[in-house]
Amino acid sequence: MTDKMTTTAGAPISDNQNSLTAGERGPVLMQDWQLVEKLAHQNRERIPERVVHAKGWGAHGTLTITHDITQYTKASVFAQVGKKIEMMARFSTVAGETGAADAERDVRGFALKFYTDEGNWDLVGNNTPVFFVRDPLKFPDFIHTQKRHPKTNLRSPTAMWDFWSLSPESLHQVTILFSDRGLPQTVRHMNGYGSHTYSFINAAGERFWVKFHFKTLQGHKHWTNGEAAEVVGRTRESTQEDLFGAIERGEFPRWRLQVQVMPELDAEKTWYNPFDLTKVWPHADYPPIDVGILELNRNADNYFAEIEQVAFSPSNIVPGIGFSPDKMLQARIFSYADAHRYRLGTHYEALPVNAPKVPVHNYHKDGAMRFFPPGTNPDAYYEPNSFGGPKQDDKFREPPLKLSGDADRYDRRKGNDDYQQPGDLFRLFTPEQKERLFGNLAAAMQGVPIEIVNRQLVHFYRADPEYGFGVARKLGLATEGLAAAAE
Ligand code: HEM
Repeated sequence: MTDKMTTTAGAPISDNQNSLTAGERGPVLMQDWQLVEKLAHQNRERIPERVVHAKGWGAHGTLTITHDITQYTKASVFAQVGKKIEMMARFSTVAGETGAADAERDVRGFALKFYTDEGNWDLVGNNTPVFFVRDPLKFPDFIHTQKRHPKTNLRSPTAMWDFWSLSPESLHQVTILFSDRGLPQTVRHMNGYGSHTYSFINAAGERFWVKFHFKTLQGHKHWTNGEAAEVVGRTRESTQEDLFGAIERGEFPRWRLQVQVMPELDAEKTWYNPFDLTKVWPHADYPPIDVGILELNRNADNYFAEIEQVAFSPSNIVPGIGFSPDKMLQARIFSYADAHRYRLGTHYEALPVNAPKVPVHNYHKDGAMRFFPPGTNPDAYYEPNSFGGPKQDDKFREPPLKLSGDADRYDRRKGNDDYQQPGDLFRLFTPEQKERLFGNLAAAMQGVPIEIVNRQLVHFYRADPEYGFGVARKLGLATEGLAAAAE
């Protein structure tokens, strides 16, 4: 038997085909509440899109722990080998709007929410281990260069290269973005990275610095620019089709979770700042340790409810996993929950996809979406109280972190080598990969004023002279002056 159709207030509807009018040809009566409700709901079907990472694809899955890392962390997620944790993932491009084509050269978001038995742990990363900027004060400026120009309403290669050429710390990420890995065929065929340095705290109260890596078990697959143009001509939804289709067919994508672990005091010894998001930790110094297998195995029943309304935040950590002094991470701890309160509403964590799978007890009170019941005792709505309300527990306190230094605005460029690691990455590429990198960069620089191009070529040259010469050659520019300009 089919369900009875009702208004949102539950009253049965007798006619969903014809409006209520005064006479057969007459105007609509204002009392046609059913029509008013239908139109009003349609007017509210859209919510603001994410300010970045608006186009996305996601699914539900599990993380299965395969190796014991309890010597580094007491997080309940990792408590036993064989443990399975429910999770969900959302992947995205950064710059495009919600209707953007999928097969675009852009960083891919790799956001994960683990519903652990000590609350939700979110790891909101990308498919790259580094980022374009190292100071959060520069994040909105950077994003402005990726979005549309205020007058032309077009994306502006001039703005992008102006910013990048004035921000040498971006070179590592720029090199990845214009390499083969900058245009993955699908999200199944790329790695994910937590990118920032986080911390682990073990049962003895010892702190370690940690980086998270998710290595694709499907293998890496990329499009060239030419192939991507052909794909976009055929379908703008190539990633959605691929991910949704694979899961429907039972071909569940999997990634190997690995961590790099650094003892707390090593941070004072490395030649690079281990909290600098533009740097990787060399694997030779901190070898990846296997932890588990991430598998996506269930499509959302409703894209809007489960993928559009999912709200990830780096502030969502659990006992045994903590932050680090990374300046970018510090800003993100604030920014995401703020974005969600605007985009979704005050109590966005009450939405089923965001709700933890453990009881929630706090003293937040009213506001939009306050549809969940109060605690067991309605008199305990402030704290301290004499009515048995929820209480803090000292056992979850983190060990103190030693910090020092004068409060100041420190030059983010000083003492930071922006060229060594991009050069090392470039030197790993095969001759064919280098040629494609040069070609992708030259294509992206078309129409950019020559003084900006020259400024950027110097950065490529400083990373590796062959890198500078290669891009200049593809642009049809002379290479003689490059060495002198790079002095
Ligand atoms: C989305 C801010 C850096 C990965 C967002 C959103 C904001 C934001 C406001 C939209 C959130 C929403 O409406 O749901 C920032 C700020 C940054 C920063 C202020 C630096 C200071 C980064 C970095 C990464 C990253 C370094 C990766 C390592 C993501 C991802 C999403 C996102 C994956 C989409 C999450 C989803 O699928 O819902 N960011 N971001 N962001 N950001 Fe960042």
